[in-house]
Amino acid sequence: RRFSRITGTGSHLPARRVTNDDLVAQLAQRGVETSDEWIVERTGIRARHFAAADQGASDLAVPAAQAALQAAGRQASDIDLIIVATSTPDMVFPSTAAIVQHKLGIAGCPVFDVQAVCSGFIYALTVADAMIANGTATRALVIGSEVFSRLLDFDDRGTCVLFGDGAGAVVLEASDTPGILATDLHADGKYVDILCVPGHVAGGQVLGDPLLKMDGQAVFKLAVGVLDKAARAVLDKARMQAGDIDWLIPHQANIRIMLGTARKLHLPPEKVVVTVHEHGNTSAASIPLALDHGVRAGQVKPGQTVLLEGVGGGFTWGAVLLKM
Ligand code: ACO
Repeated sequence: RRFSRITGTGSHLPARRVTNDDLVAQLAQRGVETSDEWIVERTGIRARHFAAADQGASDLAVPAAQAALQAAGRQASDIDLIIVATSTPDMVFPSTAAIVQHKLGIAGCPVFDVQAVCSGFIYALTVADAMIANGTATRALVIGSEVFSRLLDFDDRGTCVLFGDGAGAVVLEASDTPGILATDLHADGKYVDILCVPGHVAGGQVLGDPLLKMDGQAVFKLAVGVLDKAARAVLDKARMQAGDIDWLIPHQANIRIMLGTARKLHLPPEKVVVTVHEHGNTSAASIPLALDHGVRAGQVKPGQTVLLEGVGGGFTWGAVLLKM
């Protein structure tokens, strides 16, 4: 059997770091009231990065991909598949993956975007794993890249304090030994309205609302339950126990959701890689950003068992269990 294994990780954050206090001052000018205490207590977020006006998802994806290639000891020309998970593509079409491919100076390999919002990286990694397992690809770049700052309604304090911009990437290579141990993906479209950007482009303009709408409490209630189910599904498929997990790297949306999931698995908080305090919620970028952070901080080591899990708009959710 052919397996896939992560051989390198990388990430990139835009230069502009915005603390809660920076945001409090910025929102006050619009008459919108919030506070560092409220944001930290409800979400764990202390700062986030925002892209410059001329930076798109591909601009963040390329340095993340280059860092992952370097970590894997590979050149861009070694890559034969690029998947970018994003809900904030540079263009309606072509895909951000096509733009990234060209910026990396390569051509010919298949490239496409996956749109599953905050579960996007879990979806993309699952697809890349399947394409490597069936021989369609040998060395894939799997990237999550987002500029959610473009979608934020800065008059809605319930959402604009939660999100940030960034990118994370992995090189996923064919291997005789796993690598990816088990994957589990789900969606339920009846929840479209609880987290969405309802606008669309038509007749040369955006019709409908182009900014993010969220029912935070509905999302919160669903998230912990579905993440627990996905975690147990991949553990069952791999015939492993929660106690075998060295690191839990959940989608970094909210520290309370993340620790709630860990608690359900009886994992201590020390086994959770946490970046939400510094990055905010970077949607599809949050998991590969946190993974790269964990690897470079010396937390996540070769041979360790890691559980990645994501949840987001759609509603979508899923998990990937892997050996580094
Ligand atoms: N600053 C100060 N007060 C605020 C703010 C803010 N930024 N935002 C909301 N409030 C106020 C509300 O107006 C409300 O005031 P009221 O009681 O006078 O009406 C009060 O705080 C409570 O509001 P709730 O929405 O009930 O607050 P809640 O405790 O649910 O926290 C939050 C909101 C943080 C969004 C929470 O619901 C949550 O984390 N939900 C999960 C959603 C999430 O993580 N989404 C990320 C994207 S989804 C994903 O990635 C899966």
